[in-house]
Amino acid sequence: MADVFSLAGRSALVTGAGAGVGAAVAKAYSAAGAAVLVTDVDKDAAAAVAAEITDTGGRAESCALDVRDADQAAQAAEQAARLADGVLNVVVNNAGVIAPAMFHKMSPESFQLVLGVHVGGTFTVTQAALPYLPEDGTGRVINVTSAAGLVGTIGQVNYGAAKAGIIGLTKSLAKELAKRHVTCNAVAPLAATAMTENIRNNEKLAEMTLARIPLGRWADPDEIAATFVFFASDAAAYITGQVLPVDGGTVI
Ligand SMILES: NC(=O)c1ccc[n+]([C@@H]2O[C@H](COP(=O)([O-])OP(=O)(O)OC[C@H]3O[C@@H](n4cnc5c(N)ncnc54)[C@H](O)[C@@H]3O)[C@@H](O)[C@H]2O)c1
Repeated sequence: MADVFSLAGRSALVTGAGAGVGAAVAKAYSAAGAAVLVTDVDKDAAAAVAAEITDTGGRAESCALDVRDADQAAQAAEQAARLADGVLNVVVNNAGVIAPAMFHKMSPESFQLVLGVHVGGTFTVTQAALPYLPEDGTGRVINVTSAAGLVGTIGQVNYGAAKAGIIGLTKSLAKELAKRHVTCNAVAPLAATAMTENIRNNEKLAEMTLARIPLGRWADPDEIAATFVFFASDAAAYITGQVLPVDGGTVI
Protein backbone atom coordinates (compact mmCIF):
# COMPACT_ATOMS: atom_id res chain seq x y z
CA MET A 1 0.00 0.00 0.00
CA ALA A 2 2.80 2.44 0.92
CA ASP A 3 4.04 2.27 -2.69
CA VAL A 4 1.04 4.17 -4.01
CA PHE A 5 2.44 7.25 -2.27
CA SER A 6 5.94 6.78 -3.67
CA LEU A 7 7.34 9.36 -6.08
CA ALA A 8 10.43 7.31 -6.92
CA GLY A 9 11.64 8.00 -10.45
CA ARG A 10 9.44 11.09 -10.81
CA SER A 11 10.52 14.69 -11.32
CA ALA A 12 8.87 17.76 -9.83
CA LEU A 13 9.10 21.50 -10.28
CA VAL A 14 7.94 23.59 -7.32
CA THR A 15 7.53 27.37 -7.57
CA GLY A 16 8.02 29.68 -4.62
CA ALA A 17 9.94 26.85 -3.00
CA GLY A 18 12.52 28.98 -1.24
CA ALA A 19 10.34 29.28 1.86
CA GLY A 20 7.14 28.24 3.60
CA VAL A 21 4.79 25.72 2.03
CA GLY A 22 6.83 25.43 -1.19
CA ALA A 23 10.05 24.57 0.65
CA ALA A 24 8.18 21.96 2.71
CA VAL A 25 6.67 20.48 -0.49
CA ALA A 26 10.08 20.29 -2.20
CA LYS A 27 11.55 18.45 0.80
CA ALA A 28 8.55 16.12 1.12
CA TYR A 29 8.76 15.26 -2.59
CA SER A 30 12.41 14.40 -2.17
CA ALA A 31 11.63 12.28 0.88
CA ALA A 32 9.02 10.45 -1.25
CA GLY A 33 11.68 9.70 -3.87
CA ALA A 34 11.28 12.45 -6.48
CA ALA A 35 14.03 14.54 -8.08
CA VAL A 36 13.07 18.15 -7.45
CA LEU A 37 13.73 21.47 -9.16
CA VAL A 38 13.46 24.05 -6.39
CA THR A 39 12.54 27.41 -7.91
CA ASP A 40 11.89 30.84 -6.45
CA VAL A 41 12.11 34.48 -7.44
CA ASP A 42 14.66 34.54 -4.59
CA LYS A 43 17.47 32.53 -6.19
CA ASP A 44 19.52 32.16 -2.99
CA ALA A 45 16.53 30.89 -1.02
CA ALA A 46 15.86 28.26 -3.71
CA ALA A 47 19.53 27.23 -3.72
CA ALA A 48 19.52 26.85 0.07
CA VAL A 49 16.50 24.53 0.00
CA ALA A 50 18.02 22.46 -2.82
CA ALA A 51 21.27 22.21 -0.82
CA GLU A 52 19.33 20.98 2.22
CA ILE A 53 17.82 18.26 0.05
CA THR A 54 21.10 17.15 -1.53
CA ASP A 55 22.88 17.28 1.85
CA THR A 56 20.44 14.67 3.11
CA GLY A 57 20.97 12.40 0.12
CA GLY A 58 18.12 13.60 -2.12
CA ARG A 59 18.29 14.74 -5.73
CA ALA A 60 17.57 18.43 -6.31
CA GLU A 61 18.61 21.39 -8.38
CA SER A 62 17.54 25.01 -8.12
CA CYS A 63 17.01 28.00 -10.36
CA ALA A 64 15.69 31.54 -10.27
CA LEU A 65 12.11 31.62 -11.48
CA ASP A 66 9.82 34.60 -11.34
CA VAL A 67 6.58 32.86 -12.29
CA ARG A 68 5.54 35.88 -14.39
CA ASP A 69 8.53 35.41 -16.71
CA ALA A 70 7.76 33.04 -19.61
CA ASP A 71 11.43 32.69 -20.66
CA GLN A 72 12.52 31.73 -17.17
CA ALA A 73 9.57 29.32 -16.93
CA ALA A 74 10.57 27.63 -20.21
CA GLN A 75 14.15 27.20 -18.99
CA ALA A 76 12.99 25.89 -15.61
CA ALA A 77 10.62 23.34 -17.19
CA GLU A 78 13.43 22.06 -19.41
CA GLN A 79 15.82 21.85 -16.44
CA ALA A 80 13.24 19.97 -14.37
CA ALA A 81 12.56 17.52 -17.20
CA ARG A 82 16.30 16.83 -17.49
CA LEU A 83 16.12 15.43 -13.95
CA ALA A 84 14.01 12.52 -15.24
CA ASP A 85 14.92 11.62 -18.83
CA GLY A 86 13.01 14.47 -20.44
CA VAL A 87 9.82 14.04 -18.43
CA LEU A 88 8.35 16.46 -15.89
CA ASN A 89 5.82 14.56 -13.81
CA VAL A 90 4.67 17.16 -11.29
CA VAL A 91 4.28 20.92 -11.45
CA VAL A 92 3.37 22.73 -8.24
CA ASN A 93 2.22 26.32 -8.72
CA ASN A 94 2.83 27.54 -5.20
CA ALA A 95 4.51 30.96 -5.54
CA GLY A 96 2.48 33.71 -3.97
CA VAL A 97 2.35 37.25 -2.64
CA ILE A 98 -0.14 39.26 -0.66
CA ALA A 99 -0.81 43.01 -0.68
CA PRO A 100 -3.67 43.54 1.76
CA ALA A 101 -5.68 46.77 1.75
CA MET A 102 -9.32 47.68 2.14
CA PHE A 103 -10.98 47.88 -1.26
CA HIS A 104 -11.44 51.66 -1.23
CA LYS A 105 -7.69 52.07 -0.67
CA MET A 106 -6.46 49.27 -2.94
CA SER A 107 -4.31 50.48 -5.81
CA PRO A 108 -4.79 49.12 -9.34
CA GLU A 109 -1.08 48.22 -9.24
CA SER A 110 -1.51 45.98 -6.19
CA PHE A 111 -4.57 44.36 -7.80
CA GLN A 112 -2.59 43.60 -10.97
CA LEU A 113 0.46 42.43 -9.02
CA VAL A 114 -1.45 39.83 -7.02
CA LEU A 115 -3.46 38.64 -10.05
CA GLY A 116 -0.27 38.54 -12.10
CA VAL A 117 1.73 36.39 -9.69
CA HIS A 118 -1.05 33.96 -8.76
CA VAL A 119 -3.21 33.54 -11.86
CA GLY A 120 -0.68 34.75 -14.43
CA GLY A 121 2.15 32.75 -12.84
CA THR A 122 0.08 29.57 -12.69
CA PHE A 123 -0.82 30.03 -16.36
CA THR A 124 2.75 30.79 -17.45
CA VAL A 125 4.53 28.01 -15.57
CA THR A 126 1.95 25.36 -16.44
CA GLN A 127 2.06 26.28 -20.12
CA ALA A 128 5.87 26.03 -20.06
CA ALA A 129 5.64 22.61 -18.41
CA LEU A 130 3.00 21.24 -20.77
CA PRO A 131 5.36 19.77 -23.42
CA TYR A 132 7.12 17.72 -20.74
CA LEU A 133 4.08 16.35 -18.88
CA PRO A 134 3.86 12.60 -19.47
CA GLU A 135 0.68 10.98 -20.76
CA ASP A 136 1.10 7.74 -18.80
CA GLY A 137 -1.11 8.80 -15.88
CA THR A 138 1.72 10.22 -13.73
CA GLY A 139 1.40 13.83 -14.92
CA ARG A 140 0.18 16.27 -12.28
CA VAL A 141 -0.54 19.98 -12.07
CA ILE A 142 -1.07 21.02 -8.45
CA ASN A 143 -2.16 24.58 -7.84
CA VAL A 144 -2.43 26.53 -4.62
CA THR A 145 -5.55 28.43 -3.73
CA SER A 146 -6.87 29.72 -0.42
CA ALA A 147 -9.91 30.13 1.78
CA ALA A 148 -9.86 33.69 0.37
CA GLY A 149 -10.79 32.24 -3.04
CA LEU A 150 -13.49 30.00 -1.57
CA VAL A 151 -15.24 32.24 0.93
CA GLY A 152 -13.55 35.67 0.61
CA THR A 153 -11.46 37.65 3.08
CA ILE A 154 -11.85 41.28 4.20
CA GLY A 155 -8.93 43.43 2.98
CA GLN A 156 -7.95 40.98 0.26
CA VAL A 157 -10.07 41.67 -2.81
CA ASN A 158 -6.95 41.25 -4.97
CA TYR A 159 -5.91 37.97 -3.33
CA GLY A 160 -9.48 36.61 -3.18
CA ALA A 161 -9.95 37.33 -6.88
CA ALA A 162 -6.60 35.70 -7.68
CA LYS A 163 -7.27 32.59 -5.63
CA ALA A 164 -10.81 32.21 -7.01
CA GLY A 165 -9.27 32.60 -10.47
CA ILE A 166 -6.93 29.72 -9.72
CA ILE A 167 -9.92 27.55 -8.83
CA GLY A 168 -11.55 28.27 -12.21
CA LEU A 169 -8.26 27.68 -13.97
CA THR A 170 -7.81 24.38 -12.12
CA LYS A 171 -11.26 23.06 -13.02
CA SER A 172 -11.06 24.06 -16.68
CA LEU A 173 -7.53 22.76 -17.09
CA ALA A 174 -8.50 19.48 -15.41
CA LYS A 175 -11.11 18.95 -18.11
CA GLU A 176 -8.66 19.83 -20.91
CA LEU A 177 -5.75 17.76 -19.62
CA ALA A 178 -7.84 14.69 -18.82
CA LYS A 179 -7.47 13.43 -22.36
CA ARG A 180 -3.70 13.38 -21.77
CA HIS A 181 -4.29 11.49 -18.47
CA VAL A 182 -2.84 14.47 -16.58
CA THR A 183 -4.68 15.52 -13.42
CA CYS A 184 -5.02 19.07 -12.14
CA ASN A 185 -6.06 19.81 -8.57
CA ALA A 186 -5.69 22.62 -6.04
CA VAL A 187 -4.83 22.73 -2.35
CA ALA A 188 -6.16 25.50 -0.09
CA PRO A 189 -3.74 25.55 2.85
CA LEU A 190 -3.50 27.35 6.15
CA ALA A 191 -0.05 27.33 7.70
CA ALA A 192 2.41 29.17 9.89
CA THR A 193 4.66 30.79 7.27
CA ALA A 194 6.07 34.24 6.54
CA MET A 195 2.84 35.03 4.68
CA THR A 196 0.78 34.66 7.86
CA GLU A 197 3.34 36.18 10.24
CA ASN A 198 1.56 39.55 10.47
CA ILE A 199 -1.64 37.82 11.57
CA ARG A 200 0.07 35.50 14.02
CA ASN A 201 2.11 38.34 15.56
CA ASN A 202 -0.91 40.60 16.07
CA GLU A 203 -2.66 39.54 19.26
CA LYS A 204 -6.18 40.56 18.15
CA LEU A 205 -5.88 39.18 14.61
CA ALA A 206 -4.27 35.97 15.87
CA GLU A 207 -7.12 35.40 18.32
CA MET A 208 -9.79 36.11 15.66
CA THR A 209 -8.13 33.76 13.17
CA LEU A 210 -7.67 30.95 15.68
CA ALA A 211 -11.35 31.27 16.62
CA ARG A 212 -12.21 30.48 12.98
CA ILE A 213 -10.05 27.34 12.87
CA PRO A 214 -12.08 24.46 14.36
CA LEU A 215 -8.91 22.47 15.08
CA GLY A 216 -7.73 25.52 17.00
CA ARG A 217 -4.13 25.76 15.82
CA TRP A 218 -1.90 26.72 12.92
CA ALA A 219 -0.36 23.94 10.86
CA ASP A 220 3.32 23.48 10.31
CA PRO A 221 4.07 23.67 6.54
CA ASP A 222 5.20 20.02 6.69
CA GLU A 223 1.63 18.97 7.52
CA ILE A 224 0.43 20.75 4.39
CA ALA A 225 3.18 19.20 2.25
CA ALA A 226 1.87 15.68 2.83
CA THR A 227 -1.27 16.54 0.86
CA PHE A 228 0.90 17.62 -2.09
CA VAL A 229 2.64 14.24 -1.94
CA PHE A 230 -0.76 12.57 -2.03
CA PHE A 231 -1.93 14.57 -5.07
CA ALA A 232 1.36 13.87 -6.89
CA SER A 233 1.24 10.14 -6.19
CA ASP A 234 -0.56 7.21 -7.78
CA ALA A 235 -2.96 7.33 -4.81
CA ALA A 236 -4.59 10.38 -6.42
CA ALA A 237 -4.52 9.18 -10.04
CA TYR A 238 -8.33 9.21 -10.27
CA ILE A 239 -8.85 12.62 -8.69
CA THR A 240 -8.97 15.70 -10.89
CA GLY A 241 -10.48 19.17 -10.85
CA GLN A 242 -10.80 19.20 -7.06
CA VAL A 243 -9.99 21.80 -4.43
CA LEU A 244 -8.89 20.38 -1.08
CA PRO A 245 -8.75 22.70 1.92
CA VAL A 246 -6.00 21.67 4.36
CA ASP A 247 -6.88 24.25 6.94
CA GLY A 248 -7.96 22.68 10.22
CA GLY A 249 -11.61 22.94 9.18
CA THR A 250 -11.63 26.68 8.46
CA VAL A 251 -13.67 26.14 5.29
CA ILE A 252 -16.36 23.55 5.90
N1 LIG B 1 0.35 30.31 4.64
C1 LIG B 1 -0.97 30.22 4.55
O1 LIG B 1 -1.71 30.13 5.55
C2 LIG B 1 -1.63 30.23 3.20
C3 LIG B 1 -3.02 30.24 3.14
C4 LIG B 1 -3.65 30.17 1.91
C5 LIG B 1 -2.88 30.08 0.76
N2 LIG B 1 -1.53 30.11 0.85
C6 LIG B 1 -0.78 30.04 -0.39
O2 LIG B 1 0.29 29.11 -0.26
C7 LIG B 1 1.34 29.48 -1.14
C8 LIG B 1 2.64 29.51 -0.37
O3 LIG B 1 2.55 30.53 0.59
P1 LIG B 1 3.45 30.56 1.92
O4 LIG B 1 2.52 30.70 3.05
O5 LIG B 1 4.43 29.44 1.91
O6 LIG B 1 4.17 31.97 1.70
P2 LIG B 1 5.68 32.42 1.83
O7 LIG B 1 5.63 33.91 1.76
O8 LIG B 1 6.34 31.77 3.00
O9 LIG B 1 6.36 31.86 0.50
C9 LIG B 1 6.04 32.34 -0.76
C10 LIG B 1 7.24 32.12 -1.67
O10 LIG B 1 6.86 32.59 -2.99
C11 LIG B 1 7.96 33.31 -3.51
N3 LIG B 1 7.50 34.25 -4.55
C12 LIG B 1 6.86 35.43 -4.38
N4 LIG B 1 6.64 36.01 -5.56
C13 LIG B 1 7.14 35.17 -6.51
C14 LIG B 1 7.22 35.22 -7.92
N5 LIG B 1 6.75 36.25 -8.62
N6 LIG B 1 7.80 34.18 -8.56
C15 LIG B 1 8.31 33.13 -7.86
N7 LIG B 1 8.29 33.05 -6.53
C16 LIG B 1 7.70 34.07 -5.86
C17 LIG B 1 8.59 34.00 -2.32
O11 LIG B 1 9.94 34.38 -2.59
C18 LIG B 1 8.47 32.93 -1.24
O12 LIG B 1 9.60 32.09 -1.21
C19 LIG B 1 0.93 30.82 -1.77
O13 LIG B 1 0.35 30.59 -3.03
C20 LIG B 1 -0.11 31.32 -0.79
O14 LIG B 1 -0.99 32.24 -1.40
C21 LIG B 1 -0.88 30.19 2.03
